[in-house]
Amino acid sequence: MKVPKHLAIIMDGNGRWAKERGLPRIAGHYEGVRRAEEVVEACIDLNIKWLTLFAFSTENWKRPEGEVKALMRLLEGYIRQNAKRLTEKGLRVSFVGRRDRLPESLVREMEKVERLRPKQEKLHVILAVDYGGRDEIIRTIRKMIETGSQIDESSFKLLSDFSQIPDPDLLIRTGGERRISNFLLWHLAYTELYFTDTYWPDFRREDLLKAIEDFSRRERKFGAVL
Ligand code: FPP
Repeated sequence: MKVPKHLAIIMDGNGRWAKERGLPRIAGHYEGVRRAEEVVEACIDLNIKWLTLFAFSTENWKRPEGEVKALMRLLEGYIRQNAKRLTEKGLRVSFVGRRDRLPESLVREMEKVERLRPKQEKLHVILAVDYGGRDEIIRTIRKMIETGSQIDESSFKLLSDFSQIPDPDLLIRTGGERRISNFLLWHLAYTELYFTDTYWPDFRREDLLKAIEDFSRRERKFGAVL
């Protein structure tokens, strides 16, 4: 089976999953973290090299304050408690997005985990936190101007948040919506898209395998005639 090297996921549907069970929305996010862990395990087994997860978008600040705070706490607590274990498992973890609006204590944990490097890297997990595709494009253009860089595609990539990381081969969005929602705009140019109605907290290993099977049947032409 042809497997993507870089998989990106929009983990949508946590709130609806929780609501259907009469639970607070944050309960859906907690369950979502478990699914993210399972997907990480599956990616290692499948020999996927990069996994990018959309954890918090530049627009998510518009959510109720209580949910935003709870999400920040969830992220910070998760990183603090699991950084060492994840590194020992062969994971490298890094973050893309803005850092200037996040709680300082969260930024400190992010920087700490980014400095850890596994002895033998099996999977590089990139968490998008306060990330927006348009915001990344503007930040990158600013860097291009500041450094007097050439204005071309490869210089853009090099100065972007995904400098050393190839474009995603496959994007999965769970939760029924069929849109990109300001995720990796630049890097998705030739990415295969896969949408499923399954809510993220219900997305299991079998669902991931189904998405990858679908991907493996696609013919990627990158604009050329084969
Ligand atoms: C979308 O569901 C989900 C989010 C905005 C947050 C997802 C974040 C996580 C699962 C945490 C990831 C953290 C780690 C450490 C892996 P939604 O709230 O938009 O759901 P809805 O569309 O049903 O309202």
